Amino acid sequence: MTLPADTRRLVLVGFMGSGKSTVGPLLAARLGWEFVDVDATVETEDAASVAEIFRTKGEAYFREAEARVAARVLERDRVVVGSGGGWGASAGRLRALPRGTIAVWLRVSPEEAVRRVSGMRGVRPLLEGRDPLEEARRLLRQRESEYAAASVGVDTAGRTPEDVVEEILDAVRDNNPESVGGRNVRKA
Ligand code: S3P
Repeated sequence: MTLPADTRRLVLVGFMGSGKSTVGPLLAARLGWEFVDVDATVETEDAASVAEIFRTKGEAYFREAEARVAARVLERDRVVVGSGGGWGASAGRLRALPRGTIAVWLRVSPEEAVRRVSGMRGVRPLLEGRDPLEEARRLLRQRESEYAAASVGVDTAGRTPEDVVEEILDAVRDNNPESVGGRNVRKA
């Protein structure tokens, strides 16, 4: 599998339930690269789940840990990085990625996101309130313009993870400005 020569890593961004952790390992396998999940790494290093970290140390602590781990992972080459849904939504973050990094936005509607995560209570503290759908809509509205700074955007609704992988690879290979959500392929 060949990508543009200066591509060193892909980072998957997008809302909770967009499929980052499902698509990421498949994409990495197709490339013969490694997959690293940022939130799973935070959980290992803190010896606590994301939900526990939110509860015991607060969201601000989690956001710092997440940013620190992601920055470290984004120094590696030949890696597909799965980020948490809030990471790629942080203001300006996708416009300031290290060289050779392509951000890929996995798009999902709030309805589909809530449907996908609804079987997993106790995992996503931000969608555990009284009205998860309303909260998902609010958060997505707030975050969309940041996610849209990704170089590549792929719709995930009604598609298998394998289809999503092929579409990502096509879009990254072509680096076709028509199919992308922004102009953020930082050349090495
Ligand atoms: C969050 C998304 C979660 C996790 C945390 C906060 C968010 O990751 O980082 O619960 O702010 O969207 P996933 O996108 O992998 O669910």
